[in-house]
Order: sequence, then structure tokens, then C-alpha cells
Amino acid sequence: MMKVQICIIGGGPSGLMLSQLLHLQGIDTIVLEKYPREHVLGRIRAGVLEHGFAELMREAQCGERMDREGEIHRGFDIAHDGRLDRVDLYKYSGGNSVIVYGQTELTRDLYDARDRLGGKVLHNAEDVALHELMSDAPYVTYRIGDMTDRIDCQFVIGADGFHGISRNSIPSGVLREYEKIYPFGWLGVLSQTKPVSPELIYVKHARGFALCSLRSQVLSRYYIQVPLTDSIEDWPDEAFWAELKCRLPEAVAARLITGPSIEKSIAPLRSYVAEPMRYGRLFLAGDAAHIFPPTGARGLNSAASDIYYLYHAMIAHYKKGDDSELDGYSQKALARIWKAQRFSWWMTMLLHRFPDRVAYEDRLQEAELAYLFSSETAMRLLAENYVGLPF
Ligand code: APR
Ligand code: PHB
Repeated sequence: MMKVQICIIGGGPSGLMLSQLLHLQGIDTIVLEKYPREHVLGRIRAGVLEHGFAELMREAQCGERMDREGEIHRGFDIAHDGRLDRVDLYKYSGGNSVIVYGQTELTRDLYDARDRLGGKVLHNAEDVALHELMSDAPYVTYRIGDMTDRIDCQFVIGADGFHGISRNSIPSGVLREYEKIYPFGWLGVLSQTKPVSPELIYVKHARGFALCSLRSQVLSRYYIQVPLTDSIEDWPDEAFWAELKCRLPEAVAARLITGPSIEKSIAPLRSYVAEPMRYGRLFLAGDAAHIFPPTGARGLNSAASDIYYLYHAMIAHYKKGDDSELDGYSQKALARIWKAQRFSWWMTMLLHRFPDRVAYEDRLQEAELAYLFSSETAMRLLAENYVGLPF
């Protein structure tokens, strides 16, 4: 039996970031992760960081490699209706930008930082179960191999992603769920090729959405919108590159460098929010409470805002005996989450081809883009949301 102040379920970016930040404040945590570390680090996810997230990484003393290897992007392009228009984030967000740095690398930096400080992260923790969440002495049970154990704690953080057990520990009568499923997915390819553009290109096309992104100047990440019925087998590399080229403006397609895919996966698109994000001594954070379609690159950044609020609320609790921020956590986190949900939904509606759309909606998409690139007000709205709303 172990005793800690805070038991964190899930060793993804949310759980690790909170554990690191609290450790630096002398608050004792343990992280229970279901899978081995290499499995967690093997996941290919997005990689656009809001400036607020980057600040949190620096405060957590693990931003050094991000600042050294990450790329600062002051804008991105939207290709639409035969045009390529740039969104000047720096100009229209009052001097802010984003950092392009893969989530895999970021998670590796967080694990290294935990190791440096001797942080407690238990891998291969199975059958994790939460108990007595409505008491002032919650506890967590788990099994590693044949050994079962119990952790007594004061708070439990559910940072175990969408498929974790924490959210399901909230009784159905208490939990409210909001969801929108989109009728398509993103087929993503990672290739060791020079990116087609120094900045990201979001593409609206009659054949469907596409995105040209990158991890570095020798590692590219591309996506195309595909029907949910498609499988990887339907998309050999040649077919992927040919389809991507069809959706890109001619000049961009002409300079696209193709190569063998080193990772290929299809991700469904969904918008999801669970409320409340607190149940007694349990606090949800990150994908355990909300999912974003990747169009707006909000998933990781919204996990960071949850962690920012929880981190400050726990400091107020342990250092000042003030529970007002803990009591306000769910409402505060959800307020920012819903704004990010609105932005991701808006970007998704703007740039994708909906199979059941009517021609009128095609015109609306064109008009929305024409308005966007003819109005400084509209551009400021897009830029301030993309670089990240204040915490
Ligand atoms: N017990 C212990 N750990 C678990 C359990 C469980 N029952 N279920 C899941 N986990 C672990 C997963 O293996 C994973 O490593 O919890 C971790 C949750 O990590 P993420 O899914 O990455 O979620 P989060 O840390 O909130 O990060 C959010 O990840 O998916 C992206 O777009 C998303 O960028 C966002 C970010
Ligand atoms: C990515 O690089 O994987 C990426 C970038 C921007 C997005 C989504 C994904 O909106």
C-alpha cells in the first residue's frame, strides 16, 4: 500500500505535465500508465503548440528541446478554389505565433523530465479502479503482473484519455455528454521527405480536405479526408500521393516530394465534451473529458489549459488552504474547452466536403473563405483562436 497526495491515471502528455509541474512545487504524485513507455511514445499525434502550452513546458523545465528543435510558425496557408491565401497569425494575433513540434517528442521530453526528478511513473498498470471518490480519503487499486496494490491519496486525476476508466467512474446520472460525429476521417501519412511548404497548408477541395504539415525539415506529415468506410489497405502509398496531388494547387503539387510512408493511419473525426470535469475528489483532464476534430489542432492545447487550471488550483489548495479554484475548476476549464470546440467545429465545417451537403452549402463555404480573406476582423478572429485563447 502506497500513500501519495495525488494519484494520476494516465501517462500521456496531460498526466505527465501535471505530475512534473506539481513535483516542482513539492506536491507528491504518482502516475499509473496502462502501457509500456515505448507503446505510449509510439503513438503519432499532432504537433502544433499554442504559445500558452509552450510557456507551460518551459515552466515545467522541459521546454529546452522544444525551443531548440521546434519551429516557430507565424502563419499558415489555406488553399481553396484554385487560390493559396496566407493567414498571417503574427500580424492578426498581436504578435503571437505557434510552435510546430511533434506530440511524440513532447511526451518523450516529459518522461525524461520525470526521470531527471525521480518522478514516480508505474507502467503496465492494469485493472485500475477508483474508490471512495466522494469521501475525503479516495484510493486507487491496480495490478502489475500478479501484484495487486492500493494507493491512498487525497485527489485522483483522470488523465487516461478517451478510452480510460476515470470518466466512467462518474455515475451516469451525473455525467452529461455532448458529441458530434463527422461523416469522414483523416488518412495521415508520415514520410522522411522535405516538407512541401515551410508553413502548414490547409486545403479545401471538391475531392475533400487535405493538410500539408511537418515535424521537421526532413519529416513531413500529410493528411487527406477519406470516407469512414475506407481502410489502410485501400490506400497504398502511390494512391495516397496521387490523391494528395489532385487536391493541391498545381504549383504546390509540382514541388511535392513523395516517399515511402513510415506511418499511416486513419483517424475518425469527432467533437466530444463530458461535463462536469469533477466528481468529488476526481478531476478529469485532457482527452478523458474532451475530444476535438484535428482540424483546429486544439486537442493537446486544450489538455494543457486543463492542466494549467488544475496545477494552480492544487497549489492554492496545498499552499494556501484555498479550495475556491478546485471548486471552480470544472466550470473554468469547460468555458475554454467550449470556445476551442467552437473553433475546431468551425474550421472543420469550413474546409471539409460533407457527403450529404447541398450545393447551397458549397457556396457558403466559398463565401466564408472570401469573407475571411477580405476582412481584417475575420482574420483577427481566426488568428487569435489558432494561436490560443488566453488561459
Ligand atoms: N489505466 C491507466 N492508464 C490508462 C488507462 C487505464 N485504464 N486507460 C488509458 N490509459 C493511458 C493511455 O495509455 C494513455 O497513455 O492514459 C494515457 C492518456 O493519454 P492521451 O490519450 O494522450 O490523453 P492526454 O494525456 O489527455 O493527451 C491529450 O493526446 O490524443 C491526443 O489529441 C489528443 O493531443 C491530445 C492529447
Ligand atoms: C499535424 O501536424 O499532425 C497537424 C497539424 C495541424 C492540424 C492537425 C494536425 O490542424
